[in-house]
Amino acid sequence: MTFESEMEKRTQDAQKTVLSCLPEPSGFQKTLLSAMDYSMRSGGKRLRPILMRLSFEMFGGTGTDPSWFMAAIEMIHTHSLIHDDLPAMDNDEYRRGRKTTHIVYGEAMAILAGDGLLNLAYETAARSFDSSAHPERCAKALQILAAKTGVTGMIGGQSTDVELEGTVIPEDTLDFIYRLKTAALIEASLMIGAVLAGADEKSVSDMEMIGRNIGLAFQIRDDILDVAGTQEEIGKPVGSDAKNNKTTFVTYAGLEGADREAKRLTGEAVALLDACAGRGYHSEFLRSLLLSLAERRS
Ligand code: IPE
Ligand code: IPE
Ligand code: MG
Ligand code: MG
Ligand code: MG
Repeated sequence: MTFESEMEKRTQDAQKTVLSCLPEPSGFQKTLLSAMDYSMRSGGKRLRPILMRLSFEMFGGTGTDPSWFMAAIEMIHTHSLIHDDLPAMDNDEYRRGRKTTHIVYGEAMAILAGDGLLNLAYETAARSFDSSAHPERCAKALQILAAKTGVTGMIGGQSTDVELEGTVIPEDTLDFIYRLKTAALIEASLMIGAVLAGADEKSVSDMEMIGRNIGLAFQIRDDILDVAGTQEEIGKPVGSDAKNNKTTFVTYAGLEGADREAKRLTGEAVALLDACAGRGYHSEFLRSLLLSLAERRS
């Protein structure tokens, strides 16, 4: 199978898994549920659930069905995007090739759709207890999901990001912001896949470090595309960071320097993955996927 056809298969699997966990828009909350549905059904690479299943398979792929957590991480990620685009945050009108949720449903409904998805994520993840032979793995995975989403993870990173908007951000603070706002959910994806498969602590912490390096590279690539991409490719406006006077990695290093740093971080991640292979845990496709992210155009 070529890389492209395997990627297509993996994306479809993640898409099916995620969409199967969405409630029907009906009842008095129909508008809210429609706004959640709209945001979840628009495109999106489904990278986090794909990474989660790949990690699960790499560590043996038995024990607990990762589907609930795959849906949960994509719901949390989508929640973060709906709120990130709000006028009070980045104030953007396009996302995943369509009008943003607040443009279509209004601000109040977009705020609630984000809240609704965040809550539905935990409700969905908790369903993994029903069919798991290892409830302690589900409990550990839930702890990781909550910690990497909350004030020590994505939400903490977003708060620092908006608070420092319009200022010159020192490089170590920028690193902190990227680690929390973007890398944390990627770390969680790889860690939870490993935990549900029953991987040992060393392996889970290796997956965390792989996620950290890939997450930092992912945000740097996002910054590059915000300058050098096209709206058609990225499905969201280019120039959002300049419009909001954001310091990004491109501000420091320029496009070429940023590209070098994203590739360096990717190399670190792949070296860690290769060390896992040395201990008997191996995924050639995950390795190719990590390398491809440094070249992505969308
Ligand atoms: C966008 O994430 C937000 C960042 C963390 C940079 P993705 O680039 O994964 O967005 P989708 O899910 O494919 O739309
Ligand atoms: C936000 O970073 C990361 C999130 C946690 C949503 P950006 O603000 O750069 O993400 P995009 O470019 O709007 O997707
Ligand atoms: Mg933002
Ligand atoms: Mg944004
Ligand atoms: Mg961006």
